Amino acid sequence: MNQHRSPENLSDHVALIITKILRFFADTFFARRYGHRAVVLETVAAVPGMVGGMWLHLTCLRKMQSDRGWIKILLDEAENERMHLMTFIEIAQPKWYERLIILAAQAIFWNFYFLLYIFFPRTAHRLVGYFEDEAVLSYTAYYEQVSSDSSLNVDAPQIAKDYWGLADNAKLLDVIRVVRDDEQNHSDVNHGRADSLDEADDNLEIAKQEPTSTKINSATLQSYHNANYHIYNRPPFTLKIGSTCTDLNELFKKYDVNEAALLTAYNPQGVETDISNNKRGNEELEKNLRSQNFTFILAEGICPDNKWPGEKSFFVMGMSLSVAKNFGNTFKQNAIVWVDKTAVPQLILLR
Ligand SMILES: [Fe+2]
Ligand SMILES: [Fe+2]
Repeated sequence: MNQHRSPENLSDHVALIITKILRFFADTFFARRYGHRAVVLETVAAVPGMVGGMWLHLTCLRKMQSDRGWIKILLDEAENERMHLMTFIEIAQPKWYERLIILAAQAIFWNFYFLLYIFFPRTAHRLVGYFEDEAVLSYTAYYEQVSSDSSLNVDAPQIAKDYWGLADNAKLLDVIRVVRDDEQNHSDVNHGRADSLDEADDNLEIAKQEPTSTKINSATLQSYHNANYHIYNRPPFTLKIGSTCTDLNELFKKYDVNEAALLTAYNPQGVETDISNNKRGNEELEKNLRSQNFTFILAEGICPDNKWPGEKSFFVMGMSLSVAKNFGNTFKQNAIVWVDKTAVPQLILLR
């Protein structure tokens, strides 16, 4: 079962304490009325993505810089939460006093979260990360409740079948499962964003060189941000976008470099491509790397939700950002991963 990430500093502790307090009230008020709980809490859950997306949009206007695809990701999160609400409203109709709570909660939470986001964005994303962890736990409990009483396992609402592409005979359990997956995804995105905000200043100059608006859709962007990039070194280690990787320092020392790029020729423009074409692309890429005397380690980018097969990649030692971008463009990639001496892998968008 899902566990909270352990808090690392004051801002994490504050976020976790707020989460635990709100969890206590939700548990006391709703107990095991999970349908009602979902309706009321999803009206709150749909707020942070909109606030964050709006604030980032305004920030990018003022600073005249790229959003690195984050506005889309956050607004998409808000829409996804609203779809959770529209789904569960078909399962449980809120009582009149629950509607009052929804009104009050929105008035308070929007303003609270907006101020938090302006002054403490890292805490704000961490808070949402913890909320999402709790949502995963709640939907797991809901799932267990419905599993143990088949009369609760009603037909899935049509809106859910359309939105998630569920089978015609889908049931409530299927809906809870996909919603829980969404919440896990929001957790990964928000915790990842909180981690990467620590390194924001280092990234600023690089961000300025990126496309001002990306053509990559937000689901694909999210999977790039959430992916585990396995470096098959001895011993192997994993890179996460925005998280410091101490194994890299050793590797950089060993090869006497201070930058590296993770390149693949798989799935050009983010379109899933058959294995033989992917392999052919990577052979071509490997040939190019060898002809330019680059040293590389085999690697693989894998989405934690396993929706895509892993992308075989090359982790190229000592490759500068501009050369890495050229390679990425030559092989029609949406994005590449690049890391400098800070040992914080960055997602570099190319489209
Ligand atoms: Fe949700
Ligand atoms: Fe969520």
